[in-house]
Amino acid sequence: MADVEALKREAGVEACQFVTSGMKVGLGTGSTVKYTVIELGRRIREEGLQITGVPTSIVTENLAIECGIPLLELSDVDGLDIVIDGADEFDPDFQLIKGGGAALLREKIVAQESKIMVVVADERKKVSTLGAFPLPIEITPFSHSATVRALNRILDCRVNIRMAGDGPVFTDNSNMIADAHMGPNISDPESLEIEILKIAGVVQVGLFTNMCDAIVLAGNNGVKTILNPNGKLA
Ligand code: 5RP
Repeated sequence: MADVEALKREAGVEACQFVTSGMKVGLGTGSTVKYTVIELGRRIREEGLQITGVPTSIVTENLAIECGIPLLELSDVDGLDIVIDGADEFDPDFQLIKGGGAALLREKIVAQESKIMVVVADERKKVSTLGAFPLPIEITPFSHSATVRALNRILDCRVNIRMAGDGPVFTDNSNMIADAHMGPNISDPESLEIEILKIAGVVQVGLFTNMCDAIVLAGNNGVKTILNPNGKLA
C-alpha cells in the first residue's frame, strides 16, 4: 500500500467536496479527518467558504480553532448538515467500528444530529466482518470493574480497560474506555449494539450502525467515494 499518511490526506481532502457555504459541519476526530479540518480551514481563508463547525473532541476543537473554522455548540443549533469523520473498520453494509481515538460518545451524538455522515478512510479499514479491531466501549469510572465483568459475560471475550502508561485513559467526558477483543465475528452489529447498551455502566459503544451514507476511500488506485445504497446520498 502507498504511503498511509498520503492516503489519509487524499481521503480527508476529497471529502470536502461535500461541504458548501452555509453548512453546519460536524468535525470528526482522528488522523484522517484531521486533513479534512485543515482543508476546510484553507478553503475558508483562500476561497471565502462560509461554514460553522461542531467538533467531536477537544483535540479537533483545538485544531479547528487553529485553522480558523468558526465553531458552535451542538446544543445551540437545530441539527447539522453533515458530519465527516474517520472509522476504525467498516463492513460491506456500511456499519462501523469507531472510538480508536476515544471520542466515540461525542462522535455518535454529533453523527446522530447530522443529516448526512461521510466517513474518510483508507483501504486498511475495509473488512468483511467487523471485530478484528477491538471494540471501544465508553464506561463510567464508577464500578468500572463490575462493568467490565458484565461485558465479559455477554461478549465472552477479553475486555481490557484502555491504558495510557500506568493509568487508565480518560475521555473528554471523564469516562473510561473498555476495549472488547471480539475478533472478526460481529455479524449482527445492530443487535450487539443494543445488547451492550443495556449494561448500566456503559455510556456508549463504538458500533455506529445505519449512520454512514458514504465512504471516501483512499487506496493504491486513488480515491473513490462509495455511496451507501440505503443511505441518504444514494
Ligand atoms: C476516534 C475515531 C476515529 O475516527 C477512528 O479511530 C479513526 O481514526 P484514524 O483516522 O486516526 O485512523 O473513532 O474516536
